[in-house]
This record gives sequence, C-alpha cells and structure tokens, in this order.
Amino acid sequence: MDKFVFPSYAKLNLYLEVLNKRKDNYHNLKTVFERIDLADEIIFTLRADKTIKVSSNSSRVPKDNTNLAYRAAKLLQDTFRVRQGAEIRILKRIPVASGMGGGSGNAATTLLALNKLWKLGLKQRRLVKLAKKLGSDVPFFVYNCPFATGEQRGDKISPLRTLKNRRLWHILLVPKIHVSTPKVYAAWDEFCAKISCFTGLTIPEYNVKLLILALQKNNLASIQKAVYNSLEEVTSRLYPELVQLKARLKDLGLKSILMSGSGPALFGIVSSRKEALALKAQLEKNIKSVEIFVTKTR
Ligand code: C5P
Repeated sequence: MDKFVFPSYAKLNLYLEVLNKRKDNYHNLKTVFERIDLADEIIFTLRADKTIKVSSNSSRVPKDNTNLAYRAAKLLQDTFRVRQGAEIRILKRIPVASGMGGGSGNAATTLLALNKLWKLGLKQRRLVKLAKKLGSDVPFFVYNCPFATGEQRGDKISPLRTLKNRRLWHILLVPKIHVSTPKVYAAWDEFCAKISCFTGLTIPEYNVKLLILALQKNNLASIQKAVYNSLEEVTSRLYPELVQLKARLKDLGLKSILMSGSGPALFGIVSSRKEALALKAQLEKNIKSVEIFVTKTR
C-alpha cells in the first residue's frame, strides 16, 4: 500500500488579545499567528473501504473519534460522500496540549492531504469553512503562510503577505504542566468580571499594527516589546509553577519571554540560531522537567 507523508507544523501566538465573551461562549480575539518549523509528521495510507483509523507513536494522542485528524477525515467523508477511507499515523513531536496548536495543525493537514489523496478538488475557501467547524486554530493552518492575523474566534484569518520572507528564531520551553484551554478562558471571564474590564487584565502597550510594523522592519527590540498575550496572567494564576519558571528564566538572563495561546509553552525571540542554541545548552544545564527546543518561522 502506498504511504503519503505530510508535515504538520506548530504555531506560536506573537500577540493574543482577548476582547470579550461572545453569546456562543467563545471569545473574540485579536491575534497574530506565526507558523514554526517544529512539526509532526502524518502518514496517510488509503483504504478501499470507508474505515478511518488513527494511530500514533504518542500515548497522549487520542486514537478514537475525538481525535481532530479523525474528525477532519470524517467531516470530508460525510460532506462529500467519499467511499474511500484512510489510515492516519501521527508521529508526534509537538508537545500535546501546549498552546502550539498541534492537534489543530493535524486537522488542517488531514483536510489538505485527503483533499488531494481522495481527489476532491476543493478550493481553499471551502477547506477554511470546514476547518472552522473543527476548531478556532484550524483555519490558520489551512492557509500556506508563515504569519497571519486572526479575528473573531481567532478563525477569521488574514495572511500577512508582506511578511512572507520574514524569519524569526526562537528558544521554546514547554513545562510539563497540563493546561486546560476552557479552564483558562473561564478564569479570564471570572477575573475580568471581578475587575470589570473588557480588554484583559493587563493593557497591551503596543497593538497589532505596531507589531506588524516592527516585523516588517525586522526590528528585534520593537518586536520583543510588542508581543503580548492576555491569557498569560490568567494561566499563571491557575498554574503558579509557570510564574516560578518565568522568574528562573529571568534570573538566567532571558529578557523577553511570552506564553503561546493558553499555554503552557513559553518562547523567546532571539537574534540567531547560534544565540538560540547557546541559550538551549545553558538552560538544559539549569532547568529540569521542561522540554526545550530551538525553532524558527516556517
Ligand atoms: O475552538 P477550540 O475547540 O480550539 O476551543 C477550545 C476551547 O477554548 C473552547 O471550548 C472555549 O472554551 C475556548 N475558546 C474560547 N474562545 C476562543 C477560542 C477558544 O473561549 N476564541
């Protein structure tokens, strides 16, 4: 049987401002996504019957019909009355439930791959519509772009074409804390209701426009100042280990460090691969029970 291999990238949120809670219990956001080269690999094998099967090298990936890649395949199959099936093997490298959209990326990759392999001929617009049904972060990965803004649930994507050649280097730290995204958003509601604010707990000093400008100019200092995440304070209140880790990182000389999504992944923007590798070596000596990666824009 032929096997078809597709990469499935992770994302970082360089900016994430929670604006308000919506009637459907989701939240309106303003976000800037960056696709990074930390990636899972998905191996598809076509089946003549309609069975869809998921397997993985990771015990943390669900293998049943709750898996987002499974749901993406089933959505395509049901919507377009596909008579074929597929075996989907996910080789996990992106830490699960870390705020880097690993599962969402797997869903988007499955949509893109099976559109080709099942010869459905669906255009991007159609795939984006399906992606929205699978999760707020899925549409970003359907666009083939390194940077994009996200509005509404984070699912209304505008690719940032002027940044298509921009590359950032990162040191990335993933503490072994299990963070629940719904819990983080619920806590955002609770804290914000208490202090009656609608724009988040800390007011961002810079906004998306300034961040994009800094990215266009490739001005590292301005980029570092402009990155922002409304949820960082919330996740830190729920998981104090994160505050301790950040304090430790500051002591070790890491100036600018931001959480991605609802966490717990933390990242810094550095000037080069060399700087990132040197930091990684230093951090590995000093910090335990945290996964450390060097990664860049993809
Ligand atoms: O869309 P997704 O399934 O990834 O969202 C997971 C959870 O995160 C939602 O059930 C919701 O609690 C929260 N969420 C939100 N507002 C968003 C995105 C996610 O409240 N814009």
